[in-house]
Amino acid sequence: MIYTGKGGVGKTSVAAATALKAARMGYRTVLMSTDAAHSVSDSLELPLSGQITTVEKNLDAIEIDMLYELETRWKEIQRYVSSFLMSQGMDGISSKEMAVLPGMELMSALFYVEDFYKRDAYDVVVMDTAPTGETLRLLSFPEISEWYTERLYGVFRNMMKIARMTVGKVMSTPLPSEELLGDIAAMGDRMRDVQKILLDPEVTSIRLVVNPEKMVINETKRAFTYMCLYNLTVEALIVNRVIPQDAGDFFKEKLEEQERYLKIINESFDPLTILKAYQLPSELVGIRSLEKLGDMVFGDVDPTTHFSREKPMEIYTNDGMDIISLNLPFTMRESVNLYKAGDNLLVEVGHYRRSISLPTTFAKQEPKRAEFKDGRLLIMFQGDEDGGRGKR
Ligand SMILES: Nc1ncnc2c1ncn2[C@@H]1O[C@H](COP(=O)(O)OP(=O)(O)O)[C@@H](O)[C@H]1O
Ligand SMILES: [Mg+2]
Repeated sequence: MIYTGKGGVGKTSVAAATALKAARMGYRTVLMSTDAAHSVSDSLELPLSGQITTVEKNLDAIEIDMLYELETRWKEIQRYVSSFLMSQGMDGISSKEMAVLPGMELMSALFYVEDFYKRDAYDVVVMDTAPTGETLRLLSFPEISEWYTERLYGVFRNMMKIARMTVGKVMSTPLPSEELLGDIAAMGDRMRDVQKILLDPEVTSIRLVVNPEKMVINETKRAFTYMCLYNLTVEALIVNRVIPQDAGDFFKEKLEEQERYLKIINESFDPLTILKAYQLPSELVGIRSLEKLGDMVFGDVDPTTHFSREKPMEIYTNDGMDIISLNLPFTMRESVNLYKAGDNLLVEVGHYRRSISLPTTFAKQEPKRAEFKDGRLLIMFQGDEDGGRGKR
């Protein structure tokens, strides 16, 4: 269960409240923070670390710690890269820093998820994440991981080349071991497993946290669109920090404004399940207030309920046309670009791009046209000519 949303909306609080409620219902639960600015320990008022800590019966928590990950999970790669850089004359400290390759943090978090899943270590994994932009990078990462591991191979191959060119130093230059290259290949395989986990709506669900405020709503709409682009199932929206009707005269204007925004939220995000939590009068920290928040959001509903299993992308044949249909709410047709590159269809929305690997029957065909219908992007493929698939 992945909670995401704009900074400050209450992701950490709602994630912690969800995990607590799930644990109290008897689910073996782990709460995992992937936000480098960890605040789960503040929320629970408990010291946490990069290693799994037990909070109470059925509830564990971990705040991914990159330094720890580097020294354990990425040890081989880090050791090799820094010894290589040192052999080329770079000093020890900078070479160690250079060994942090982009994407390692994101991958670490996803590898935990994969590991929990494989070991069946928990019934529920609740992920508290960094604000939306960063989380989108996290969620789109498995898709680009092939590209990434290729790059990593490339980096190491280039290192070997440089080593050969540096006359006289060849003997002292460490070369990547078979094991290391094997590690990188294995990483690619693992990322494919992660991808399967993330894309299975029976396993993974994304919940957006929003406040009844204009800027927050707008960012949430964008986030929703991009999640759909990556074919991730967003199943619920939690409207947090709603001011109660009886808040008094001081809040009169605020309440009127809020009414408008709540209406916009309801209309915009339909048919997502919308859950609500009120602004608490006191600071929201500690187990007690998290219990309160959990009750407000879920009432008697099991917090692990799959509110939706719908996938944003569907592929079907209609009237001789092969069609890819992608739910892209809040998207203007002008902001979408489509390209076909080999067996891949590139869909570009705003700053985000997804490469959809086409089923073999599609790959041979040319996209015929695309249109927007009821918030869905329909991409039609011309039936294969020899097969005489009828109308075009
Ligand atoms: N329903 C609520 N009532 C009162 N305070 C809240 C509520 N939800 C969140 N807060 C407070 O708002 C601040 C931001 O919440 P947090 O969960 O850390 O947001 P995020 O993780 O999205 O940045 C925290 O101080 C938290 O205690
Ligand atoms: Mg947070």
